[in-house]
Amino acid sequence: MARKISFINYKGGVGKTSLIVNTAAALAKLGKRVLLFDFDTQSNASIWLLKLDRWNKINATGEGAIYSVFDPGRAQVKDLVIPSVVEGKAGEKLLPGLDLVPTTFNLVDLENEYNGDPKRPPYLVFSEQLAAIEANYDFILFDCPPNILRASQCGVFASNEIYVPSNPDALSLIGFTLLVEKLQKFHQLSASFRKAAMGPAAQVHGIIFNSIKTGIDIEVPKMRMQLRLNQFKTAKRAAPTAKIFETQIRDAMIVRRAVALGLPVALVSAEAADVGAGADNVVNDYRKLANEMIQQVSA
Ligand SMILES: Nc1ncnc2c1ncn2[C@@H]1O[C@H](COP(=O)(O)OP(=O)(O)O)[C@@H](O)[C@H]1O
Ligand SMILES: [Mg+2]
Repeated sequence: MARKISFINYKGGVGKTSLIVNTAAALAKLGKRVLLFDFDTQSNASIWLLKLDRWNKINATGEGAIYSVFDPGRAQVKDLVIPSVVEGKAGEKLLPGLDLVPTTFNLVDLENEYNGDPKRPPYLVFSEQLAAIEANYDFILFDCPPNILRASQCGVFASNEIYVPSNPDALSLIGFTLLVEKLQKFHQLSASFRKAAMGPAAQVHGIIFNSIKTGIDIEVPKMRMQLRLNQFKTAKRAAPTAKIFETQIRDAMIVRRAVALGLPVALVSAEAADVGAGADNVVNDYRKLANEMIQQVSA
């Protein structure tokens, strides 16, 4: 069964998209079959992995993008999958095993204009359709905006685990706290639509520190985050096995550069060439994180 994980925090700009794209690539490089859903109407992950030309073609009509499942509603999730999405200049597949369901800017209409059957909320429609392709994957990952509105709800409802990308600052802690609160509310709201086969509603399983600058001591923000996590675990509002990931992702210029190149960092030449297990670079951070994810027992 695929592990389904949403990356979400109520704070924006913490590195959710960078983390999910690069970790998805690392998982694919380790031989896992990975499907990434872009549920953020900003389309950062989609533009990154498709590069602007390919994404522009989809954005022009909306055909092939996730919103087409809801409006006009004829598309099926399974038909939107772009297999081995990362391509080179000649269209050659650079990273077999990393598939994408892209979004375009029209996903914003799901929050307001969309007038679906109230008895079948978007997250229900989505999770039913997702079931048809789940068996093809080891990991299905959802990149979410910093809220739990309708687009995020699709990822959260289908997920069994929530990962919270964070920076070592007070705002990330507030974002995490708000997330757990809103998550609880959404689970109550959606409980009647949950089928036993879906497994339990997703709780926070992991916190991942991202963009850590060298020489900066993060022990205090880390301790504060651990205390908050422990409180949530005691209150049964986070998974019993939830933890702060041992692996943290360093702040590195190559992460910003990779976006402009339209490649996950693992495929950006210079650093990627040096990925021996001991390599002290950000490519290896993502690889270690991917391994830690694989090893984390899902409750
Ligand atoms: N490890 C990192 N090192 C350097 N820059 C990073 C790192 N992670 C993210 N960034 C940068 O931080 C900004 C916000 O990241 P992004 O992934 O878009 O965040 P979010 O999805 O949470 O809004 C981007 O400019 C991105 O390139
Ligand atoms: Mg993002």
